[in-house]
Amino acid sequence: MRTLIRNGMIVAAVDEFKGDVLIEGEKIIAVGENLDPMADHVIDAAGKYVLPGGVDQHVHYSFEFKGERVRGFETSHAAVAGGTTTVVEFVNQEQGKGMADTIFEFDEKEVSKQAMADYSYHAVVCDPVDSTFEEIHDLPNRGISTVKLFMAYKGMPFHSDDEALYKALVAAKDAGVTVMVHAENADVIDILQKKYVSEGKTAPYYHALSRPTRVELEATQRVINLAAMAEAPVYIVHVTAGEVMKAIRSAKNDGLPIYGETCVQYLMLDKDDLAKPNFEGAKYVMSPALRTKADQEALWEAVDNGWLNAISTDHCGFDWESQKHMGIDNFTDIPNGSPGVENRLGVLWTYGVNTGRISRQRFVDLFATTPAKNMGLDHCKGHIGVGMDADLVIYDPDKTSVISNENSLHGVDFSTFEGYTQEGEVTKVFLRGKLVVDDGEFIGEKGDGKFIPGKPFGLCFNEAKTNKELDQSKV
Ligand code: URP
Ligand code: ZN
Ligand code: ZN
Ligand code: ZN
Repeated sequence: MRTLIRNGMIVAAVDEFKGDVLIEGEKIIAVGENLDPMADHVIDAAGKYVLPGGVDQHVHYSFEFKGERVRGFETSHAAVAGGTTTVVEFVNQEQGKGMADTIFEFDEKEVSKQAMADYSYHAVVCDPVDSTFEEIHDLPNRGISTVKLFMAYKGMPFHSDDEALYKALVAAKDAGVTVMVHAENADVIDILQKKYVSEGKTAPYYHALSRPTRVELEATQRVINLAAMAEAPVYIVHVTAGEVMKAIRSAKNDGLPIYGETCVQYLMLDKDDLAKPNFEGAKYVMSPALRTKADQEALWEAVDNGWLNAISTDHCGFDWESQKHMGIDNFTDIPNGSPGVENRLGVLWTYGVNTGRISRQRFVDLFATTPAKNMGLDHCKGHIGVGMDADLVIYDPDKTSVISNENSLHGVDFSTFEGYTQEGEVTKVFLRGKLVVDDGEFIGEKGDGKFIPGKPFGLCFNEAKTNKELDQSKV
């Protein structure tokens, strides 16, 4: 069966042009002008943008914080409704178990039958024994090409020290596995948290004060140094501040393979949101903490210039009433993280593209093309081209709405972007050729999403790639 999407403005990371996309089965088989009038279905996309389905390289559908768990893959249709067709999930290694075994047990139990977006996985190092670091070499054979370590969260099962970080960097570089790091100084945060709580300063705003920019800056500089010592690339997740971005940019300028992303909320919100009355501030408790308007501008500049190469969501579906309220008397008990996977396209389009901060090309690059490259998924995801998966979004720029939790599929009781205007609407989405959003409504089914193995030697290895590694990464 062939579907032809005609006369849309097809946007790529490098250019855009008015034309047609022809889909057969799960794949794009032609992109050009005046294609096959014999298609079974013809969709007129005149006046609309045709975008590659988004790749969100940073989501949490299994994260647990002090016993509270986020909404799972049963809410992954929110991603699709928002134009994100591939999500990459962090899976915390179980103690005494291999990382890949932990991942694929979770996949079997919770993901494969429920996913409504395609997905891939990051392995999170939680049990820093020799066999864990040895396993890193084997992860690409199982379709896992990224590992994550948390420098933050002292005392939690997923916290890592410098020893674990360095060992992971050394093991990962030979295997072409990208090490991703949540960079914050856990010890200083712990001291500051205890200090504020002992002074009776327990409101959500103290979350931000206990995690100042310097705790992120120090850890970022430290991991840059560890990576340099290990002669390995490293990817810093959720960069929040201008000063932190500058540390990454300066390392890049020194020729080091240091990469980073930011997230939508750090471009849009600031720490004043944490001061909202009646415990509303808890909705914005996430780590690292929200910063300032000046930081937002520095981050916009960074994504425009490629100093940070992707915009993710760090999506965490925690409920405000039933979960965030755990910390009503103590901000350190508020589950960290906020929902957003559904809003990435609409918010970035409205406040990035339509304000002139980033071009449509930069948007597509940050939203889909480069995340796919970071994750070793670019053989099938992130770009509208012949042979690629037919993951496509038709975006109508003329519709305007107000973001509200009332029409959200996140499955929680609040929206991080409640009340923000959204310019444009995701009207149709194809997931590997299947129409899963029509007229702005999700019409897919549980199980539509499938596991996409990530290939090793992703973008972070570009500078270090030898021909041999290049060959290996393509087989
Ligand atoms: O607050 C956040 N970001 N929660 C999710 C876990 C993490 O740190 O990425
Ligand atoms: Zn994190
Ligand atoms: Zn995260
Ligand atoms: Zn192309």
